[in-house]
Amino acid sequence: MDHFNYQGGELCAEDVPLARIAAEVGTPVYVYSTATLSRHFNLFREALAWTDHLICYAVKANSNLAVLKLLGAMGAGMDVVSGGEYARARAAGVPGERIVFSGVGKTRGEMAQAIQGGIRQFNIESEPEMQALSEVAAGQGAVVPVAVRVNPDVDARTHAKIATGKSENKFGIPIARAREVYAEAARLPGLRVVGIDMHIGSQLTDLDPYRQAYSKMAQLCRTLRADGHAIMRLDMGGGLGIPYRRDNAAPPLPIEYGQVIRETVGDLGCEIEIEPGRNIVGNAGVLLASVIHTKRGEGRDFLILDAAMNDLIRPAMYDAHHDIVPVREPAVGAEVAPVDVVGPVCETGDTFARGVQLPPLGDGELVAFRSAGAYGAVMASEYNSRPLVPEVLVAGDRFAVIRPRPSIDEMLGRDRIPDWL
Ligand code: LLP
Repeated sequence: MDHFNYQGGELCAEDVPLARIAAEVGTPVYVYSTATLSRHFNLFREALAWTDHLICYAVKANSNLAVLKLLGAMGAGMDVVSGGEYARARAAGVPGERIVFSGVGKTRGEMAQAIQGGIRQFNIESEPEMQALSEVAAGQGAVVPVAVRVNPDVDARTHAKIATGKSENKFGIPIARAREVYAEAARLPGLRVVGIDMHIGSQLTDLDPYRQAYSKMAQLCRTLRADGHAIMRLDMGGGLGIPYRRDNAAPPLPIEYGQVIRETVGDLGCEIEIEPGRNIVGNAGVLLASVIHTKRGEGRDFLILDAAMNDLIRPAMYDAHHDIVPVREPAVGAEVAPVDVVGPVCETGDTFARGVQLPPLGDGELVAFRSAGAYGAVMASEYNSRPLVPEVLVAGDRFAVIRPRPSIDEMLGRDRIPDWL
């Protein structure tokens, strides 16, 4: 459920007509709903109410400081994968004790930054990384809490580019080698082993891969404890999918996911960490765009928008589907016709969707891409020298620009011409 609904014939974000935002901020623009963000965060809270837990929101999904601040104020921890994300979480007021550092290639500089600033746990992905972290920590006279990311070799049954839990993926250490890696971690002076970490992929629409992976985790936890490791935390990763198509069977709910965690690892007495990103912000955002014009092609019409692949890369990158809806509510029984929805960037890949059934839309009319709150603005670029897409946050009948659109001058002003040119 989200808070983008038609009211009085107009699509609104909570109580704000999207047309009002378009008039004041311009398009393209991302619009997020605080009510949906908090609702989704609370669903995870309810799903894990049976145990001690920390919901570490995956900052990569949407890293705007206002979004982080909202979630942090509700008690969320953060899962970060770079020094930049760590700095964002801290700048949004999240204390280090609630920040988990994941990622397959942390640099020594990033490790030092997080140790100095405070950190709940590093999720280690390899032995060389373990060595490096121990050295960096010991150099600061610190001993840092770590979990080792274990690759359970489970098929997450999602898009190949976002599956991470198979043995051929670059992530984690093979589960078969976990005991020796934990033994080595325990020997290193800068590390204190506190848990086990897994993340098997993103946009999972089936609970079965989770069940398989978490059963392996439970087994490993018992083995490692028997080996003498004090495993107190289990980081279950993120990845629970969201409904991208309103007409499709919905993926499992957080409460059902929480039940799988309970059934597989609930008896181990560990604190549970999860790292959801998309499920919290995905359906809490839309990308609002205007029609530039409709172009009649041979055998097909093109709806050319002012949003492009640089603003929302997911369709070009993963063939991802986003529902595209008119902001002015179509009359009941209004005629629709198929159009290819495209952006102005000079690539054929700048196609959002083909054959979308839409009512006729005049130049300047507004459309919204639904489910665009996650991996939307964060993956945007300035390709074709299109200024970075702005972001707006709505709460009830209020809205605020949480990242303004840079002017062309600001964009150009970042470049430097050497004096020898
Ligand atoms: N934890 C780790 C270690 C991750 O790598 C990820 C996502 C998450 C948590 C959050 O997963 P989520 O709950 O959001 O599924 N750009 C792609 C998605 C990439 C996901 C990468 N890792 C997309 O647009 O679909």
